[in-house]
Amino acid sequence: MLIVITELWVKVGIANLMKSDEQLEHIKKSLGRPTHEGQNYLIYSGDCIALMSRMTDSMVDLTVTSPPYNIGKEYEKLLSLDEYLDWCEQWIREIHRITVPNGTFWLNLGYVSIPQRAKAIPLPYLLWDRSPFFMLQEVVWHYGAGVAAKRFYSPRNEKFIWYVKNSDDYVFNLDDVRDPNVKYPNQKKNGKLKCNTIGKNPMDVWQFPKVTSGQNRSSKERTSHPAQFPVAVIDRIIKASSNAGDLVLDPFLGSGTTIEVALANGRLAVGFELKEEYVEMAVRRIESAIKRQAQERAQRTLFTG
Ligand SMILES: C[S@@+](CC[C@H](N)C(=O)[O-])C[C@H]1O[C@@H](n2cnc3c(N)ncnc32)[C@H](O)[C@@H]1O
Repeated sequence: MLIVITELWVKVGIANLMKSDEQLEHIKKSLGRPTHEGQNYLIYSGDCIALMSRMTDSMVDLTVTSPPYNIGKEYEKLLSLDEYLDWCEQWIREIHRITVPNGTFWLNLGYVSIPQRAKAIPLPYLLWDRSPFFMLQEVVWHYGAGVAAKRFYSPRNEKFIWYVKNSDDYVFNLDDVRDPNVKYPNQKKNGKLKCNTIGKNPMDVWQFPKVTSGQNRSSKERTSHPAQFPVAVIDRIIKASSNAGDLVLDPFLGSGTTIEVALANGRLAVGFELKEEYVEMAVRRIESAIKRQAQERAQRTLFTG
């Protein structure tokens, strides 16, 4: 009997046996008091490997993150390439362990240079197989603006790697992210519409502007964090790769984009961030997004009754 219950526990995942508040309470029991706790989310200031290592197996439905790329940004300590890849392997293994059996991991990576070998090698080439996850797909995020170049093509993309724990069982809510911009929506074959009426599959090359800074070209969503995710990219990932009430994690939270978007979509969220100033920035941003969304809901009910 005990074996059957244990097997069921592992199969279904602890997360699915608990519901919302209980999931966050369970995390608080493992990690202690969060640096900040808001409605349906927790933020811990600290090293993500240390924090994840204290979490129970199979807790998180979806992880979306972008780590430091080891390129000398203000929030990272430069390592040798081997040390950096070993470090990445450590936190990727922790993410795998705390992910539910049908869970998902979306990893955004840029480029590094390797002296005498490569000017800008895509980090996914070096990291894709340092993970116990099943690699399902690479998505190219193409953005309009970036650095200019004269002796090579102007770089205009970064990659997202889509990993799943089980290639036969994962969440993919395609209808929630279909692209309504269809060229010939009324095209028919044998009297039937050829296109899905909701829209087309958004494909594996995504066009979304980068979060830009600068006097006249600063994005509306811009914070002072130097490497912010665009809300639109994370919105597509969270809608397609998780369900309402699921727990979403970002272990390199930065300015808090993942939590803001997770909450807007009715998910629970947890974030880890080493720098306290970024935690404060994320909290301010998330709380003002919650207020804005509440006001928008109130406006809508005002006019719809
Ligand atoms: C590329 S940025 C993430 C930005 C984020 N995607 C956003 O939308 O703002 C990486 C973040 O990881 C944080 N960081 C670096 N090492 C960390 C660690 N060991 N544990 C937790 N956070 C860390 C950095 O301070 C930085 O804010």
